[in-house]
This record gives sequence, structure tokens and C-alpha cells, in this order.
Amino acid sequence: MQTYVRVKPEKLGKINDMIYGHFTEHLGRCIYDGIFNEKSSKSDSRGFRIDIIEAVKKIKCPILRWPGGNFASAYHWQDGIGPVEKRPQLLNYIWGGVESNRFGTDEFIQYCRELGAEPYLAVSLGTGTLDEAIAWLEYCNLDTPTRYAKMRRENGHSEPYRVKYWGIGNEVYGPWQVGHCSAAEYAEKLRQYTQFMKGVDRSIKVIAVGADNPDWDMTVLKHAGHLIDYISIHEYHGSDDYFGTVASVYYCEQRLKLLESLIKHLRLDHVKISFDEWNIWYKISAEREGSEKGTVLIEEPYALKDGLFAAGIFVVMHRMNDTVQMANLAQMVNALGMIKTKGDEIVLTPIYHAFDLFVNHTGRTRLAMDIDTQRYDIKARTFVEGRNSFQLKDVPYIDGSATYDERRSVLSVALINYYQKEADIRLDLSGLEVKKKADRYVLTGSAPDEMNDFDNPDRIHLVSDELATGTGEMNLRLAPMSASVIEFT
Ligand code: AHR
Repeated sequence: MQTYVRVKPEKLGKINDMIYGHFTEHLGRCIYDGIFNEKSSKSDSRGFRIDIIEAVKKIKCPILRWPGGNFASAYHWQDGIGPVEKRPQLLNYIWGGVESNRFGTDEFIQYCRELGAEPYLAVSLGTGTLDEAIAWLEYCNLDTPTRYAKMRRENGHSEPYRVKYWGIGNEVYGPWQVGHCSAAEYAEKLRQYTQFMKGVDRSIKVIAVGADNPDWDMTVLKHAGHLIDYISIHEYHGSDDYFGTVASVYYCEQRLKLLESLIKHLRLDHVKISFDEWNIWYKISAEREGSEKGTVLIEEPYALKDGLFAAGIFVVMHRMNDTVQMANLAQMVNALGMIKTKGDEIVLTPIYHAFDLFVNHTGRTRLAMDIDTQRYDIKARTFVEGRNSFQLKDVPYIDGSATYDERRSVLSVALINYYQKEADIRLDLSGLEVKKKADRYVLTGSAPDEMNDFDNPDRIHLVSDELATGTGEMNLRLAPMSASVIEFT
């Protein structure tokens, strides 16, 4: 059956660049032996892996979250500043191994500056205190003659960092989290932290912990919604089943819409959603394999199906552009990483290429689009603890988004073909200004589990071709299991 896709000239608002953000945590080899490796010949004098910086710059990281994750809940920022040789070696009792503290706040800020990313810091609600959070904010953002601002200057950083994004806690709804508490307890802590942190620096934006649980989210929003700027949601899915993995995109969409409906119900239109951890994560049994006993690595071997999942998430975030205004892939390197390292080599996974496709080939103005496609029902397994299966109806085989890039005057049509066979599309652009040239960029492969590895790092990459354009309507054939963007210029 042919799928009918119609793009309309109606503009449906801006897509925030920050949906293409990333996350780095002191987990396994994400920071050490990942983005930061003082021994690698690929690193600069600061220990930053230049090959990773170049790869990430290509996909223009707009915002970077740090230091966790679960790690943030037991992190004391003052352990990671000042002369490196004086910093304490500590147990990373969250993920195992030794935390050298050689990568701390100043290194993180420099790293963000190098990438051109906004830093996003998560304060500890576990073993941390309000005093510590305020001191961290002072260290980063103030130019006062007071202790922590002075400390930053003495550490060689005369200008305040002006960190805008501050997360208050991480996943404190879960018993795995240091600082686990009830929704009411969290809501009151959030209110206090936000009130006093914004009292110190009015320019900051605060991200609250959302739980993907309406009771928790309602309690938090009702109590502190008037003070906060974002509420977060975390989603990890995937399995070795192809449709189970790609359909989980639509499970995520349902959960994002549920959160959006709570925000709207409470008339808190200023509160936006930060989808600040999302990814595929299911190979739980393989995670405790660090060289040091008990170190957690979580190095998922991402394949084509995971790249299509990422592309699907981008389409969902385009559709929800009014509310979903920030997102951070969990994570950037090695641990759940879209980039893998082994010695001095790196591998870019299909998830990385999905970022390349959407960041570099779609616009930031959303256009209206209708898609008439076949759909399916599914009961799928998903391997992350706590949620073993989901059931969905009417999952589309073809999905997409239409955008306009005002700067380049480019109309982009993104189309994902989740079928495991070719799909024929009738693309209707009538009513839009006729464009002369159509360049297509495609992420695809020959099997759902096909992946890039150190022996063959380029098996999956974006391929491009030029299409013949028609006036108004055109026929397209999409490769099986593919995400394509057609740029009309
Ligand atoms: O990204 C890995 C972990 O997943 C994060 O530390 C935590 O927030 C989530 O449970």
C-alpha cells in the first residue's frame, strides 16, 4: 500500500535546538577513558579527546548535562576543583571504581565552551545540601567578593561561567537513588532550592525531577510549578526485538503527552518538558564487566534499529515542539554511548548518525504534515527494570516531520520507514513554493542489528543522492528500515 504524505505551508512554531542535547556522567568510561583521557595521543593538553570533540561539534551539541544521573546525588562539587594533584581520590560508590576528581566543574565548563554547548548542572539532593548548591551557584555565576566566587577567581577563572540550567536532584522517586524521598518531600525541597537559588541568581532556569508518574508529577507541579521552568522525564527502552524497539518511540510519545496534559491542566504554560534522559538500554546482564571489580560500564552495542528509535524520538519531539524544549541523550560516550572508544580509536553508532541526519538536515520551523499510512498493534517487551512490557495500538509504519530552515531557505521532509521492506510514498507538496533541487540523506542498513564496530566503523553511515523533483506531487521509494531527510532547495 502506498503511503500518502502531505506537507502544508502552515507554520506550527519553532523547534528548540536544545532537543538535540547530550548527557555525560561519571559512569564507567563516559568521562575517564571517554571524553577525558590524559594518556591518549588523541587528546589535547587538557586531556580532552579531540576526535570526540570534532565528532560532537559536527552534530552541534547545544546543551550538555553533568555530572549525573545517579552519580550527581552523591557528588560534592568542591572535591573536583583546585589543583588537580590535591583533589581527593574517592570511591564512586554509585557506579563502582575510583573517582579521581581530575575532571570537575572547571574542566566541564571548559569542555562545554569547546563544544559551544550550554552547561547544565545537576545538584545533589542525596548527600548534598542547600548550602552546597548555593555555593556551587556562587562559584559558577557570581562576581561578588564572597568565598566561592573568590575561589573560582583564585582557580584562574576571572569571569563568571553564567551557568543557566540547574537541575534540582535526579530520579529521587526511585529507591536506587541516594536521597530517595516521597513526592511531597521532593516538592518542598524543590520549592526551597528554587526559591533560594533564584534569589541568588535570577537568570537561572530550573529543571525539576519528573517521574513519568502522574501522582508524582502532579504533586511537584502543584507545589512548585509556579517557580520552575522545566519538568524532566526519563525513558529507556529497547529489546532485541525490532518492532518492540522501534514501537517504544510511541510509548515515549504517550508518556510525554501525558506529562504535557498535566502541565496544561494546571495552566502552567511556562513549564516546559526536559526529556533529559532518553535512550535504548536493555542489555542489563552485560553491564558489570569493568576491569575493576564491580565497576558498571553499560556499554550497549547500538545497531540500526536503535538509530531508527533515535530518529523516531526526534520526529516525536518535532511534533511536541510547543512543550518539549530540551532533551539529553543518555549518554554521549561509552556508557550508553552514541560514540564508543577503544584505545585511540572511536566508532560512531547509528544513534550518532540519527543526530547528524536531524541536526544538520532538518529546519527549526515546524510545518504541518498529514501522513496516511498503515498501522499495527503491539505488545512488546522492554528490558529496563520496573517496566517489562507495554501495549500499543495504531503504531505507524511510516512517520515523519516537515520543517523549514529560514536561514538556508530549505524545506526538509523527514520520513522514517519502519517497515522491513521498501515503502512507496506519494509526497504532496502542492501549496508550497516549488523547489528546484532535492537532496536526500538516508540512514539505513541491511538488518536491524547491523552496527558499526572497531573492525568496520563505517558500515552504517548517512548516504545521499539527488532526486528528480516534480511540481507539487512526487513518488518516492524508501529503503527498508530507514530514516531519510529530503532537502528541497
Ligand atoms: O544514564 C544512566 C542512569 O540512568 C542515570 O544515572 C540515571 O539517572 C538513570 O537511571
